[in-house]
Amino acid sequence: MKILVTGARGQLGREAVLAFTAQGHDVTGIDQAELNLAGSSDVADAIAAYKADWIINCAAYTQVDRAEEEAELAFAVNRDAARAVAQGARQSHSRLLHVSTDFIFGGKQATPYREDDKGDALSVYGQSKWEGEQAVMAALPQALILRTAWVYGAHGNNFAKTMLRLMAERDEIKVVDDQIGTPTWTADIVRAMQALMESNADGTYHFTNEGVASWYDLADEILSAAPALGYPVKVQRILPIPGSQWPCAAQRPAYSVLGKEKIRQLLTYNIPHWRQSLHSMLKGSAP
Ligand SMILES: NC(=O)c1ccc[n+]([C@@H]2O[C@H](COP(=O)([O-])OP(=O)(O)OC[C@H]3O[C@@H](n4cnc5c(N)ncnc54)[C@H](OP(=O)(O)O)[C@@H]3O)[C@@H](O)[C@H]2O)c1
Repeated sequence: MKILVTGARGQLGREAVLAFTAQGHDVTGIDQAELNLAGSSDVADAIAAYKADWIINCAAYTQVDRAEEEAELAFAVNRDAARAVAQGARQSHSRLLHVSTDFIFGGKQATPYREDDKGDALSVYGQSKWEGEQAVMAALPQALILRTAWVYGAHGNNFAKTMLRLMAERDEIKVVDDQIGTPTWTADIVRAMQALMESNADGTYHFTNEGVASWYDLADEILSAAPALGYPVKVQRILPIPGSQWPCAAQRPAYSVLGKEKIRQLLTYNIPHWRQSLHSMLKGSAP
């Protein structure tokens, strides 16, 4: 199968390129250097020219705090470029898997969000991704949208890697404990992508690992595993703090757990718990 992956140097795009290539697919990964998706009016034509069977759109403006100051760029990438990628897919009769986020939700409810819940984002990033989903569906109604959350993996920048660095440098780390979500490993997301692509599904699906956690829980689990795996650890303690003590430009949802009933019906395997996948990732990336 011919697969085009955008955002190929990002954490999820890189994982997708490596995994689908290893399975023998004809994969082309592109990033800003090859094609700036927000840079010109002929993005749809450029995407269509790849004549891919599948396009996996992992490209996104993901700087959640900086987006509050760079709203125009965030919307250009997350909404307008997503629309152009969908238009390109329509032109070349390619299937499209577009990736989105839990941050489209405001986090005011106490039960997991469903695929058909309406976006009520708190941030520019979240709103730009929500409008991006709608732009994709308007341009290509048979597109697949995969919403995921709290992504980490071996490639690119993420919370888990930042924690490992800080644990080696500092005696004490403060981590927010009143935002609840589900840490999710890129390798598990790509496996779910593959299952969705093989199933011929369309529409919106949620995928995360199982379980819920605060950022503090995630940091604590990393610390519990890191020394035995040979990661350098200097830190003496991790302090849980409320988000109100960690001022950020962008507001984050207090509760952004994504319900997975829909994708569970389709998967032929059990989704791993976030702790299990975190240990797999830490083991695989150990020094
Ligand atoms: N990270 C998370 O926790 C998280 C959570 C939920 C959902 N998601 C979603 O998952 C997807 C992948 O995220 P990620 O964590 O892999 O992000 P990432 O590591 O920041 O990668 C995003 C990629 O998009 C590229 N990109 C940005 N602007 C572009 C443009 N104008 N033209 C072409 N490429 C451009 C970036 O290139 P440069 O590096 O050159 O800018 C980067 O390679 C996104 O849709 C994101 O919204 C992420």
